[in-house]
Amino acid sequence: MPSPSPMPQASPPGGSAAPRDRGEFLLAACQGGAEEELCRRQQAVLPEVRRGAWRRGAVTFRLPVGFDPPDAFFPDLVFARAMIRSLGQVTAATVPDLVAAALHRAGPAAWRNVHVWPRDPRTDADVTGIRAALLTALGLAPDTAASAAPGDLVLDCVIDTADRWWVGWHRAATPASCWPGGVYPVPLPADKVSRAWLKLDEAIASFGIPLAPGERACELGAAPGGSCQRLLEAGLEVVGIDPAVIDPRVANHPRFTHWRKRSRDVKLREFRGFDWIVSDMNIDPVSTLEAIGRIVAEAGVRPRGIIATLKVPTWPRAEALPEWLTTFRQWGYVPLVRQLSTGGREVCCYATRAGRGVSPPHARRRPGR
Ligand SMILES: C[S@@+](CC[C@H](N)C(=O)[O-])C[C@H]1O[C@@H](n2cnc3c(N)ncnc32)[C@H](O)[C@@H]1O
Repeated sequence: MPSPSPMPQASPPGGSAAPRDRGEFLLAACQGGAEEELCRRQQAVLPEVRRGAWRRGAVTFRLPVGFDPPDAFFPDLVFARAMIRSLGQVTAATVPDLVAAALHRAGPAAWRNVHVWPRDPRTDADVTGIRAALLTALGLAPDTAASAAPGDLVLDCVIDTADRWWVGWHRAATPASCWPGGVYPVPLPADKVSRAWLKLDEAIASFGIPLAPGERACELGAAPGGSCQRLLEAGLEVVGIDPAVIDPRVANHPRFTHWRKRSRDVKLREFRGFDWIVSDMNIDPVSTLEAIGRIVAEAGVRPRGIIATLKVPTWPRAEALPEWLTTFRQWGYVPLVRQLSTGGREVCCYATRAGRGVSPPHARRRPGR
């Protein structure tokens, strides 16, 4: 095992102290089925830790002796929706007994929020009632917002089964770490034309993507039009490229144009002047990268950012993730990647032009990685 790097303790904003027992494990939550990919990524970027227990949607990692990461520690595991310090499990037959056991396990600390989330979203649990009981027991306001504020010390209760919870904590910092279980807390509004609206909305919030009114974006794989709808709402001029039909709510928008063809049938010079390239095609990741690469290689085409969904046909294909990221770098872009909580078996890659100094909140990570 490589020797653990010395990690300075982050100074807690507001001076709120973490629990004295900081926990010997990390617990990472992921999409059910992505556990192996999460561990593969851990071996690459966080080789100091050893895999502990795992279940569908959650993997624990034992921290080596003397390795005490900062409170707000979110290594770039891509497939980890949430990352907490685990203090272990509690079991009891009733919610009041589980609450008492969880608080005993957590010990005193300057808790500012409570996140209650099921390990498996299919688990039937009274998340609201359990959180209310924990807030009351901790003396926190019953109307404490579900999303934490950056800097908040958060008590995490991960519901494994009705009678067993994992207890842990983290300090909120990145946008996703403010959301319970790292799950984007916005439901799909009824007037949106597809779930892609929500995926792009989460990507914008998660990466802090600075879309500005008046900028121009084109989307490869635009139909039926949810992401274009989100781009239009941000005030952009939008071109949607797709041989399929665009929903009239988007197609009839005065700032929208539909190029009804495949991306490779668009003349390269027509891509000049776009500030953003968005891609959400239901094709292999290598084909998606070829389609984008053909565009950004064209003289005069230099978008400030690329927001690309890379669909992973089978989980083992995600092993090629480092090569996909290298491709972005070869184009002169700095990629950040994350499996969004609202997406399927895919990753969202947000890449900004190298040297533009954009430092999205998601980018906070350990030096040298
Ligand atoms: C997941 S859907 C896109 C959803 C869309 N982004 C939205 O916001 O509603 C994938 C789309 O990719 C399109 N597509 C696949 N290959 C394409 C290509 N080579 N060029 C353009 N569109 C393509 C398909 O026609 C399909 O409409």
